[in-house]
Amino acid sequence: MTTGRFIALEGGEGVGKSTQVRALAEALRQRGIDVVVTREPGGSEGAERIRELLLKGSEDRWGARAEALLFAAARTDHVEKTIRPALARGQWVLSDRFIDSSLAYQGGAGGLEIDAVRAINAFGIGDSFPDRTLILVHHEGGARARARDAEGSDRIGGRSDDYHRAVNAGFRAVAEAEADRVMLVDASGSPENVTKRLLAALEDFL
Ligand code: TYD
Repeated sequence: MTTGRFIALEGGEGVGKSTQVRALAEALRQRGIDVVVTREPGGSEGAERIRELLLKGSEDRWGARAEALLFAAARTDHVEKTIRPALARGQWVLSDRFIDSSLAYQGGAGGLEIDAVRAINAFGIGDSFPDRTLILVHHEGGARARARDAEGSDRIGGRSDDYHRAVNAGFRAVAEAEADRVMLVDASGSPENVTKRLLAALEDFL
Protein backbone atom coordinates (compact mmCIF):
# COMPACT_ATOMS: atom_id res chain seq x y z
CA MET A 1 0.00 0.00 0.00
CA THR A 2 1.28 3.45 -0.86
CA THR A 3 1.35 6.11 1.86
CA GLY A 4 -1.72 8.28 2.15
CA ARG A 5 -1.95 11.35 -0.04
CA PHE A 6 -4.03 14.42 0.57
CA ILE A 7 -5.65 15.80 -2.59
CA ALA A 8 -7.99 18.79 -2.82
CA LEU A 9 -10.24 19.55 -5.78
CA GLU A 10 -11.15 23.19 -6.28
CA GLY A 11 -12.83 25.54 -8.71
CA GLY A 12 -15.29 28.40 -9.04
CA GLU A 13 -19.03 27.85 -9.30
CA GLY A 14 -20.37 25.69 -12.13
CA VAL A 15 -17.17 23.95 -13.28
CA GLY A 16 -18.50 20.43 -12.66
CA LYS A 17 -16.47 19.89 -9.52
CA SER A 18 -18.95 17.62 -7.71
CA THR A 19 -19.12 15.26 -10.69
CA GLN A 20 -15.33 15.15 -10.85
CA VAL A 21 -14.93 14.45 -7.13
CA ARG A 22 -17.07 11.33 -7.57
CA ALA A 23 -15.36 10.28 -10.80
CA LEU A 24 -11.85 10.82 -9.48
CA ALA A 25 -12.59 8.88 -6.28
CA GLU A 26 -13.93 6.01 -8.39
CA ALA A 27 -10.88 6.06 -10.69
CA LEU A 28 -8.52 5.98 -7.68
CA ARG A 29 -10.45 3.09 -6.13
CA GLN A 30 -10.12 1.16 -9.38
CA ARG A 31 -6.38 1.52 -8.94
CA GLY A 32 -6.65 -0.15 -5.53
CA ILE A 33 -6.36 3.07 -3.53
CA ASP A 34 -8.39 3.38 -0.32
CA VAL A 35 -9.78 6.90 -0.58
CA VAL A 36 -11.84 8.92 1.89
CA VAL A 37 -13.98 11.56 0.20
CA THR A 38 -14.76 14.65 2.22
CA ARG A 39 -15.82 18.25 1.68
CA GLU A 40 -15.59 21.81 2.88
CA PRO A 41 -16.99 23.68 4.54
CA GLY A 42 -17.72 20.55 6.58
CA GLY A 43 -16.21 17.10 6.71
CA SER A 44 -16.48 16.63 10.48
CA GLU A 45 -19.40 17.00 12.86
CA GLY A 46 -18.34 20.39 14.18
CA ALA A 47 -17.35 21.72 10.77
CA GLU A 48 -20.73 20.70 9.32
CA ARG A 49 -22.36 22.82 12.05
CA ILE A 50 -20.16 25.77 11.11
CA ARG A 51 -21.11 25.18 7.44
CA GLU A 52 -24.72 26.07 8.29
CA LEU A 53 -23.57 29.32 9.88
CA LEU A 54 -21.48 30.18 6.83
CA LEU A 55 -23.86 29.33 4.00
CA LYS A 56 -27.28 30.17 5.45
CA GLY A 57 -28.75 33.53 6.32
CA SER A 58 -28.33 36.99 4.93
CA GLU A 59 -25.30 38.20 3.01
CA ASP A 60 -24.33 40.56 5.86
CA ARG A 61 -24.56 37.90 8.56
CA TRP A 62 -20.74 37.90 8.83
CA GLY A 63 -18.11 40.45 7.96
CA ALA A 64 -15.19 39.41 5.78
CA ARG A 65 -12.83 38.70 8.68
CA ALA A 66 -15.32 36.74 10.78
CA GLU A 67 -16.21 34.73 7.67
CA ALA A 68 -12.57 33.89 6.99
CA LEU A 69 -12.05 32.86 10.64
CA LEU A 70 -15.14 30.65 10.62
CA PHE A 71 -13.88 28.86 7.49
CA ALA A 72 -10.50 28.44 9.19
CA ALA A 73 -12.12 27.14 12.40
CA ALA A 74 -14.20 24.63 10.46
CA ARG A 75 -11.08 23.54 8.54
CA THR A 76 -9.10 23.07 11.74
CA ASP A 77 -11.73 20.69 13.12
CA HIS A 78 -11.94 18.89 9.74
CA VAL A 79 -8.19 18.33 9.74
CA GLU A 80 -8.07 17.15 13.36
CA LYS A 81 -11.08 14.85 13.27
CA THR A 82 -11.14 13.50 9.71
CA ILE A 83 -8.09 14.24 7.56
CA ARG A 84 -5.12 13.52 9.83
CA PRO A 85 -6.62 10.27 11.19
CA ALA A 86 -7.29 8.99 7.64
CA LEU A 87 -3.78 9.84 6.44
CA ALA A 88 -2.35 8.19 9.56
CA ARG A 89 -4.22 5.01 8.60
CA GLY A 90 -2.56 5.16 5.17
CA GLN A 91 -5.74 6.21 3.35
CA TRP A 92 -5.88 8.88 0.69
CA VAL A 93 -8.07 11.90 1.33
CA LEU A 94 -9.93 13.63 -1.51
CA SER A 95 -11.51 16.87 -0.34
CA ASP A 96 -14.13 18.80 -2.30
CA ARG A 97 -12.62 22.24 -1.56
CA PHE A 98 -10.01 23.08 1.08
CA ILE A 99 -7.70 25.97 2.00
CA ASP A 100 -7.30 27.25 -1.57
CA SER A 101 -11.01 28.14 -1.60
CA SER A 102 -10.37 30.43 1.36
CA LEU A 103 -7.36 31.96 -0.40
CA ALA A 104 -9.40 32.65 -3.56
CA TYR A 105 -12.80 33.56 -2.04
CA GLN A 106 -12.00 35.29 1.25
CA GLY A 107 -8.48 36.37 0.28
CA GLY A 108 -8.71 37.23 -3.41
CA ALA A 109 -12.37 38.16 -3.80
CA GLY A 110 -13.28 39.12 -0.23
CA GLY A 111 -10.69 41.86 0.01
CA LEU A 112 -8.48 40.22 2.64
CA GLU A 113 -4.93 39.62 1.52
CA ILE A 114 -4.22 36.08 0.33
CA ASP A 115 -1.18 35.93 2.63
CA ALA A 116 -3.24 37.01 5.65
CA VAL A 117 -5.79 34.29 4.96
CA ARG A 118 -2.98 31.74 4.52
CA ALA A 119 -1.57 32.80 7.90
CA ILE A 120 -4.81 32.38 9.89
CA ASN A 121 -5.26 28.97 8.30
CA ALA A 122 -1.69 27.93 9.02
CA PHE A 123 -2.39 28.74 12.69
CA GLY A 124 -5.25 26.23 12.58
CA ILE A 125 -3.91 23.40 10.43
CA GLY A 126 -0.13 23.65 10.79
CA ASP A 127 1.53 21.89 7.89
CA SER A 128 -1.55 19.85 6.90
CA PHE A 129 -1.73 21.43 3.47
CA PRO A 130 -2.80 19.22 0.55
CA ASP A 131 -0.03 17.29 -1.19
CA ARG A 132 -1.69 18.57 -4.33
CA THR A 133 -4.56 20.91 -5.13
CA LEU A 134 -6.20 20.57 -8.54
CA ILE A 135 -8.20 23.62 -9.61
CA LEU A 136 -10.76 23.12 -12.36
CA VAL A 137 -10.90 26.10 -14.69
CA HIS A 138 -12.68 26.91 -17.88
CA HIS A 139 -12.81 29.89 -20.06
CA GLU A 140 -16.49 30.18 -20.94
CA GLY A 141 -18.50 32.82 -19.11
CA GLY A 142 -21.88 31.10 -19.40
CA ALA A 143 -21.45 28.18 -17.06
CA ARG A 144 -21.45 30.23 -13.92
CA ALA A 145 -24.70 32.01 -14.71
CA ARG A 146 -26.31 28.66 -15.42
CA ALA A 147 -25.04 27.28 -12.15
CA ARG A 148 -26.50 30.20 -10.22
CA ASP A 149 -29.90 29.81 -11.84
CA ALA A 150 -29.95 26.10 -11.18
CA GLU A 151 -28.84 26.09 -7.58
CA GLY A 152 -30.39 29.22 -6.16
CA SER A 153 -28.06 31.10 -3.93
CA ASP A 154 -26.33 30.41 -0.67
CA ARG A 155 -24.56 33.31 1.07
CA ILE A 156 -21.46 32.93 -1.04
CA GLY A 157 -22.56 31.28 -4.29
CA GLY A 158 -25.12 34.08 -4.68
CA ARG A 159 -22.57 36.90 -4.71
CA SER A 160 -22.05 39.13 -7.73
CA ASP A 161 -20.40 38.14 -10.99
CA ASP A 162 -17.57 40.54 -10.12
CA TYR A 163 -16.96 38.65 -6.89
CA HIS A 164 -16.83 35.34 -8.76
CA ARG A 165 -14.49 36.75 -11.40
CA ALA A 166 -12.20 37.79 -8.56
CA VAL A 167 -12.43 34.26 -7.12
CA ASN A 168 -11.18 32.85 -10.42
CA ALA A 169 -8.36 35.39 -10.52
CA GLY A 170 -7.51 34.40 -6.93
CA PHE A 171 -7.26 30.74 -7.87
CA ARG A 172 -4.92 31.61 -10.74
CA ALA A 173 -2.75 33.73 -8.45
CA VAL A 174 -2.48 30.89 -5.93
CA ALA A 175 -1.54 28.41 -8.68
CA GLU A 176 1.17 30.78 -9.86
CA ALA A 177 2.53 31.42 -6.36
CA GLU A 178 2.56 27.75 -5.32
CA ALA A 179 3.27 25.93 -8.56
CA ASP A 180 4.69 22.87 -6.76
CA ARG A 181 1.48 22.20 -4.85
CA VAL A 182 -1.29 23.73 -6.95
CA MET A 183 -2.18 22.92 -10.56
CA LEU A 184 -4.83 24.32 -12.89
CA VAL A 185 -6.75 21.67 -14.82
CA ASP A 186 -8.80 22.41 -17.94
CA ALA A 187 -12.47 21.67 -17.14
CA SER A 188 -13.73 21.85 -20.74
CA GLY A 189 -14.84 18.88 -22.82
CA SER A 190 -16.46 15.64 -21.73
CA PRO A 191 -16.48 14.68 -18.03
CA GLU A 192 -14.47 11.56 -18.93
CA ASN A 193 -11.72 13.66 -20.46
CA VAL A 194 -11.64 15.99 -17.48
CA THR A 195 -11.23 12.99 -15.14
CA LYS A 196 -8.33 11.78 -17.32
CA ARG A 197 -6.64 15.17 -16.97
CA LEU A 198 -7.07 15.06 -13.19
CA LEU A 199 -5.51 11.60 -13.04
CA ALA A 200 -2.65 12.74 -15.25
CA ALA A 201 -2.02 15.57 -12.79
CA LEU A 202 -1.61 12.94 -10.03
CA GLU A 203 0.58 10.65 -12.13
CA ASP A 204 3.64 11.02 -9.91
CA PHE A 205 1.64 9.79 -6.88
CA LEU A 206 0.20 6.71 -8.61
P1 TYD B 1 -21.12 24.28 -1.64
O1 TYD B 1 -22.59 24.17 -1.50
O2 TYD B 1 -20.29 23.24 -1.02
O3 TYD B 1 -20.85 24.49 -3.16
P2 TYD B 1 -19.80 24.08 -4.26
O4 TYD B 1 -20.51 23.05 -5.06
O5 TYD B 1 -19.57 25.35 -5.00
O6 TYD B 1 -18.55 23.54 -3.61
O7 TYD B 1 -20.76 25.74 -1.08
C1 TYD B 1 -19.58 26.10 -0.63
C2 TYD B 1 -19.47 27.60 -0.84
O8 TYD B 1 -18.55 28.13 0.10
C3 TYD B 1 -18.95 27.94 -2.23
O9 TYD B 1 -19.63 29.08 -2.71
C4 TYD B 1 -17.51 28.30 -1.97
C5 TYD B 1 -17.52 28.83 -0.57
N1 TYD B 1 -16.26 28.66 0.19
C6 TYD B 1 -15.55 29.78 0.58
O10 TYD B 1 -15.95 30.91 0.29
N2 TYD B 1 -14.38 29.62 1.29
C7 TYD B 1 -13.92 28.40 1.65
O11 TYD B 1 -12.86 28.29 2.31
C8 TYD B 1 -14.67 27.24 1.25
C9 TYD B 1 -14.19 25.87 1.64
C10 TYD B 1 -15.84 27.42 0.53
